[in-house]
Amino acid sequence: MSSTLGTPPVWWQSGAIYQVYPRSFQDSNGDGIGDLQGIRSRLDYLVALGIDAIWISPFFPSPMADFGYDISDYCGVDPIFGTLGDFDRLIADAHERGVRVILDFVPNHTSDRHPWFAESCSGRSSPKRDWYIWRDPAPGGGPPNNWTSNFGGSAWEYDEMSGQYYYHAFLKAQPDLNWRNPQVRAAMMDALRFWLAHGVDGFRVDVIWHLIKDAEFRDNPPNPAYGPGQPDIARFLQVYSTDQPEVLDIIAQMRATLDEHGDKLLIGEIYLPVERLVAYYGPELSGVHLPFNFQLIHAPWNARGLDTLIETYERALPAGAWPNWVLSNHDQRRISTRVGAAQARVAAMLLLTLRGTPTIYYGDELGLEDAHIPPDAAQDPWEKNEPGLGLGRDPARTPMRWTSLPGAGFTEGVPWLPIGGRPEQNVADQMSDPDSMLHLYHRLLKLRRAHEALSLGKYESVVATGDILAYWRRNGEEGLMIVLNLGHKNTPIELGGVFSVLASTHPDSAEEAGPGIFVMRPDEGLLLKPR
Ligand code: NOJ
Repeated sequence: MSSTLGTPPVWWQSGAIYQVYPRSFQDSNGDGIGDLQGIRSRLDYLVALGIDAIWISPFFPSPMADFGYDISDYCGVDPIFGTLGDFDRLIADAHERGVRVILDFVPNHTSDRHPWFAESCSGRSSPKRDWYIWRDPAPGGGPPNNWTSNFGGSAWEYDEMSGQYYYHAFLKAQPDLNWRNPQVRAAMMDALRFWLAHGVDGFRVDVIWHLIKDAEFRDNPPNPAYGPGQPDIARFLQVYSTDQPEVLDIIAQMRATLDEHGDKLLIGEIYLPVERLVAYYGPELSGVHLPFNFQLIHAPWNARGLDTLIETYERALPAGAWPNWVLSNHDQRRISTRVGAAQARVAAMLLLTLRGTPTIYYGDELGLEDAHIPPDAAQDPWEKNEPGLGLGRDPARTPMRWTSLPGAGFTEGVPWLPIGGRPEQNVADQMSDPDSMLHLYHRLLKLRRAHEALSLGKYESVVATGDILAYWRRNGEEGLMIVLNLGHKNTPIELGGVFSVLASTHPDSAEEAGPGIFVMRPDEGLLLKPR
C-alpha cells in the first residue's frame, strides 16, 4: 500500500489536533454535562486558538459505565450529547471554518447492553455467540486463564446460563469483541463507513493494540517489577492478551476502508515501548498514520532524558512515517500537575515545536490543573474498582473553565464533576492577559502555521548539558532553534550567533539573544531565529 505522505503534506502532518472530552467542554442545556451543541458554540474559540482538527471522545449511545467507552450503538448519538442532526450541524460548521473532525472509534469492546452482546448471551448456539470471546472454565474450574482486567480483578466473567466465561479487558460491562470473526470485522467496517458518510475526517482508535488476543489464550507471565500500590493490571506482563502480530491485518483493513474516502486520518491509541509502538505504522505504512506517542506523558521531566527520548524516537521511525506528540489526555494526569505551572509553559513550547503532529488536551492551553475529587464525588469506574491508589481519571476530566463565574461558563446547572483548576485558569481572563498560557499557545500555534521549519522541517538535536534541551528545526533555507531550560535556575548558554526571539515562555523577554554567553532564566523556553 502506498503512503499518503509526501508533497504537498497532508493536513494532519502540518496541523495540530485538539482533544475535546465532550462531557466537560460546554453544556448547552443546563444538565451539567457537555454536549455537541456546546462544542459547536465554541468552534470560533478553537479557530482563534489555531488548531486544525478536533478529536471528540465518544458521544455514541452508551450506558456510560465507562463514560462512553462502552458503546451500545456505533451509529448514533447518545441523547445526553444531542442528536445525529446536532452532529451534522457541528461537522458542517467545523468544516466551514476549516476545522476537521476526528471521532473516537472503540472497536475492542462494546457495552454489555449492545444488542450484539444480548444476542451472543442468548446461548451457545446463538449466531452471534462467536462475536465475543467465550471460553470454557479452566479444567479444574475457574477462569480460563490469568488475564487481568485493566480496571482490576479477573478479565473473565462467568455466565451461569451457558456455563462459560466471557472476556473483558476493561469493565465486565465492556465485553471484548472477537476480531478473528470476519462478521465482526465487516460490521465494524460498516460503522466506520457510516461516520465517513457523515463527513468525518478520521478516527482515533481506542486500545488498538488490544484487538487480537493469543489464539491459544496462554497465561500471561508474572511481572517481576510488580509491587504494592500498583494496579492489578500490573501483576502480569500483557504478553498474550495484547499486541499480537495479526492485529496489523485488521488495521490495514481499517486503513483501506478510510482510504476509500480520501485523506482521512487513522490514529491508534497504543501504550507500548517505542520499538513496538512504531510497528503500528504497519508494513509499507499500511497501518495507522499516527500511533499515539505518549512518551512525554511517562518520561521523567529532565533535559538529558528527553533529549535521548526524542532522538531514539526519531531514529525508530520507519522511512516515511510521520511522528506525533502528546502531553496529556483524559486518562492521564494533566501536564501542569505533573511538571508544575512554570514547566508547563516549557512543555507547551516543546509540544508545539517538535517534529510531528501535536495533540493538545482541552484545558491544557489554560494551564488547567488536576482537580481534587472528594471520594464521594468520584465518577471514574477505575477509581471505584481500585480506590485509594490514585488511579482515578476524574481529576483530569473536569469542566473547561470559560469564565471565573460559578459554573465556569461551562454550565448553568450542576456540573457532573466539580469545576477544577484555579479560578484564573479561565478563557475570559486569559484572553485579556497577553502573558497568559492561552496567549502562549496562540503565539506558538501561529508561528507553527507561519514557519514550515516548525510544522514540517527536520529535527536536529543541539549538543547541550545540564538542564538545557536545544534543537534546530530546519526546512530548506530556514532554520529555527529552540532552547528550553528544564531547570529552575539561571543557566548560561553559549549561543553561536545573534538570534531574534520569536517566542518566549516569559513576559518581558529580550528581542535579541547572543552572540556569546546568554543567560536562560529559570523555566524559560525560547524560539530563536538566526539574524
Ligand atoms: C482507553 C480510553 O482512553 C479509556 O478512557 C477507556 O477507559 C479505555 N480505553 C476502555 O475503552
